[in-house]
Amino acid sequence: MLTKKQTQVLDFIKLYMAKHSYAPSLDEIKKKFKLASVSTAHYYISKLQDAGFLNKEHNQPRAVSTVEAKQTVEIPILGAIAAGQPIEAIEIPDETITITRDEIGKQGKHYALRVQGSSMIDEGIFDGDIVVIRKQEVAENGQTVVAVIDDNQATLKKLYRENGKFRLQPANPTLFPIYRDEVEVRGVVVKIIRNLESQLDQGQSRDEKYVRKIDYSWDYRGEKTKSHTHGIHTYPAMFIPQVGRRLLETYSKEGDTICDIFCGSGSALVESRLIGRNAYGIDLNPLAIFLAKAKTTPINPQKLTKEYIALLDRVEKVKANEIERPDFKNIDFWFKDKIIVKLAKLKKAIREIKDEAIQNFLMVAFSETVRYSSNTKTGEFKLVRVKGDKLEKHDPDVIGIFRKHAEKSIAGMTDFYKYAKKDSWTKIIYGDSSKDNEIKTNSIDCIITSPPYGDSRTTVAYGQFSRLSAQWIDVFDDPNDASGVDNDLLGGRATKNLTHSLPSDYLKESLEKIAKQDEVRAKDVLSFNLGLNECLKQAHRILKPKKYFCLVVGNRLVKQVRIPTDFIIAELAEKIGFTCEDIIVRNIPGKRMPIKNSPTNIVGALEETMNKESIVVLRKN
Ligand SMILES: C[S@@+](CC[C@H](N)C(=O)[O-])C[C@H]1O[C@@H](n2cnc3c(N)ncnc32)[C@H](O)[C@@H]1O
Repeated sequence: MLTKKQTQVLDFIKLYMAKHSYAPSLDEIKKKFKLASVSTAHYYISKLQDAGFLNKEHNQPRAVSTVEAKQTVEIPILGAIAAGQPIEAIEIPDETITITRDEIGKQGKHYALRVQGSSMIDEGIFDGDIVVIRKQEVAENGQTVVAVIDDNQATLKKLYRENGKFRLQPANPTLFPIYRDEVEVRGVVVKIIRNLESQLDQGQSRDEKYVRKIDYSWDYRGEKTKSHTHGIHTYPAMFIPQVGRRLLETYSKEGDTICDIFCGSGSALVESRLIGRNAYGIDLNPLAIFLAKAKTTPINPQKLTKEYIALLDRVEKVKANEIERPDFKNIDFWFKDKIIVKLAKLKKAIREIKDEAIQNFLMVAFSETVRYSSNTKTGEFKLVRVKGDKLEKHDPDVIGIFRKHAEKSIAGMTDFYKYAKKDSWTKIIYGDSSKDNEIKTNSIDCIITSPPYGDSRTTVAYGQFSRLSAQWIDVFDDPNDASGVDNDLLGGRATKNLTHSLPSDYLKESLEKIAKQDEVRAKDVLSFNLGLNECLKQAHRILKPKKYFCLVVGNRLVKQVRIPTDFIIAELAEKIGFTCEDIIVRNIPGKRMPIKNSPTNIVGALEETMNKESIVVLRKN
C-alpha cells in the first residue's frame, strides 16, 4: 500500500536516480517535500522499503535503490468510519489507495475507510488513519470489524458474542462498550495505514519558543521489543529498540562511533552493534553496566548451551553446607530462608563456569530469578513487599524461574550472535555523565540517549529497582553500598536553596510554580536540571561539530505542574552550542513506566504521568 505522499516520494527517488545514478539524501527528500525533519524523510524511506518498493539491505539514504514493481491493487476509499460514537457512513468519491497484493492476501474483496475518533487507539488505530477492510459478513470473537447498528450507524470496534448478545468493544480504556441484540458485520480490518501527513500536526499553540510535532509513526505500537538480547532482563524505562534504531539510522551511518550517555541496560548499544556502529555506553548504576555488557557481548550459542546444560546438572549436586549465604541488610525481609538456600546453590554453580562472558550472561538470568523469587511485588519498579496471605503462600520455583529466563535469553543470544556486526565494538563505562569520562573531545559521531525523567526519589528509582539483584550478583564490593545508588544519580541530592543561574526561562517558571506549593520538591527538580546541564556540556565536548545529539525525554508532572523538560533541554543546549532542530512527540505504548501515579497524595486521585515523550534533536554548531 502506498499513500499519496509515499507515491510522490517514490516518484521523486526514481526521477532523481534516473538523473544522477544515485539516490537523493534524506535532507534532499526533506527539502523537496518540505517535511518537518529528516526523520520524517527516513520514515517515508522505511515505509517504501517495508512495502517492497525500495531495496532493504542498506540503511543509508543514498544507497537506496528501487525494485521491480510488485503486483498492486487499487482499493477505493468508500468513506469515513467512526472509531467513537457510531456515525452514518460518509461517501468520499473517487479516492483510492494503492496496496501491494502481499499486504492483504490474495483472497477476498477489499475497501478502505478513513477513521474518525479515538476509540480504537489501544489497537493502534488513530484518528485520520485509513483502515483496509476485507468484505465479509461474519467475524470471529475479538476481530476488529466494521459494524452497522441502529439503522445504518457504522462504527469500528472489536466484536464479541456474549450471552446471546453482541458486545462492540472500544480499544480505549476511557470508553464503554456498546451492547446490541443485532449487529451487521460489513468486514474485518486487515490493514491499518497510518496517516502520517495529518498526524504530523503541531502539538501546541504557536506562541511557544519551540514547536513540538506529534508523530505517531514513532509509536511502534504492538511491535516486538524483545528480539535479540533486548529481552534478557527487565530495566525501567528501556528504549523501544525500534526508536533507538530509527534514531541511529537517521542520524549516524555505518562505521560511526556513537554514544549513549545514560545507557541503562544497553538497548541503544545492542541496536548499534546490529547495524554496524561502534558504541560507548555510560551509566552510574552498576547493575545497568552489568546488563549492558552482557547484552552486547556476542557468545557462541553452542558453547553457551553446553555450559547451561552442564550447569543444570551441577546445581542439583550442590550441598547445603557448600553454599555461601550473602550478607546484606534485611535479606530475611526480602527472601524466605529456603529460597536463599536455593538461590545460593544456583549462584555457586554459575560461578564455577570458567568462561567469564558465559558466566556473566547466565548471571543475568540469575538476576531475574532473584527478583522473581524475592518477596517483592513483581510489576513494580520500587521495592514493595507482598503482604499477608500472599506472602505466606509465596513459594517460588527458583530453578524453574531460572530455566525459563535462561532459555529465553539463550534464544535471544543466538539471534544476536548471528546478526551482530563482527567488526563493530561496544565499550561500556561505569561513570557519571556529568563529568569527564575520558572520551576524547570531538570524537563521537552521534549521541542517542534517554535520561532519567527526574530524580530517583520521586520518579523511577533505578538503584532501588536494581538493589536485590546487585546484592546477589556481587556488583558491589560491599553489597550494602547498593542502597546508595539513587543518591548519586541525576537529582539524587536536593540543592540547598533555589538560587541558580541556569539559562532557561521554562525551568524558572516551573520552579516558581512548584516552589509555591513545595520547596523541597522544587529543589529536587533544580538539582536534576543542574546535573542534566553538566551532562549536556560533556555531550557537547565529545560530539564532533555538526553532528546530532538525540534525547528521548518525558515532561513529568510535579505538584500538578507539567515540567517541559524538552523545552528546558533545548534552551540549555542552545546556550552551550547546540541548535535544536526538532522536537518530536511520540506515544509510549510499551515503555515500562507507571502510567498513573498519585501526584496529589490524595487517595484515589490518580493522574496520568507519562504516556507521551519527546525526542529532542540537537545539532552541535
Ligand atoms: C531512562 S534510563 C536509560 C534506559 C536505557 N535507555 C535502556 O534502554 O535501558 C536512564 C539511566 O540513566 C542513568 N543515570 C542517571 N544519572 C546518571 C548520571 N549522572 N550519569 C550516568 N548515568 C546516569 C540511570 O542509572 C539509568 O540507567
